[in-house]
Amino acid sequence: MSKKKGFLITFEGGEGGGKTTQVARLRDRLTQAGKDVVLLREPGGTVISEQIREVVLSAKNSGISYTTEVLLFQAARAQIYNEIVLPSLEAGKIVVMDRSRDSSVVYQGIVRGFGRELIDQLNTISTKDTYPDLTILLDLDPQVGLQRQADAGGNNRFEMEELNFHKKVRQAYLDLAHEDTSGRWKIIDAAQPLEKVTEELWKLISEKL
Ligand code: TYD
Repeated sequence: MSKKKGFLITFEGGEGGGKTTQVARLRDRLTQAGKDVVLLREPGGTVISEQIREVVLSAKNSGISYTTEVLLFQAARAQIYNEIVLPSLEAGKIVVMDRSRDSSVVYQGIVRGFGRELIDQLNTISTKDTYPDLTILLDLDPQVGLQRQADAGGNNRFEMEELNFHKKVRQAYLDLAHEDTSGRWKIIDAAQPLEKVTEELWKLISEKL
């Protein structure tokens, strides 16, 4: 693992769990507390990675093969780690990410079936062997999550997958979190009102920082 002076927090989970809202609130709160914070999303976060995001998520690209998908997520990740995540951590900043390596483990490794070993190897390359210090799993029943997402007007390639796909995603995340021995995973019940999730999250983060 690369030596880093900063702190890396990743948010993970299925669709509609409120990751995007919570990461923004966390960024604001940490900034108010005087911390140097960088907020990023995957896939995306750099000019090049946002271009890859458009290709890999667009509902127009239903013809993308699963192998292409695996490699595009990794390509976007390699770029954001090289360009922003690693330099920010080396500079001692707190980096907050809306999805990162565990999304590939769950969606491509477990649910699409490429296997965890292969995705771990690719993640090692794209992140230069960097693991989050803390991973927050916003856990939610996919039926509720997909409805929230639909109400918000989203329709990327993944939101269009059937319910069973999203049930597998939820279970895979819970399995990862439960079998973790490093202590980096924390599960938050995202069915709670937004404010309660924010408070629970802040309590967790305050204990860690
Ligand atoms: P996004 O619009 O960020 O959705 P969400 O609000 O749910 O985070 O879309 C990201 C989608 O890409 C999401 O459905 C999960 C998927 N994804 C992967 O399959 N593998 C990955 O490595 C990453 C980063 C995302």
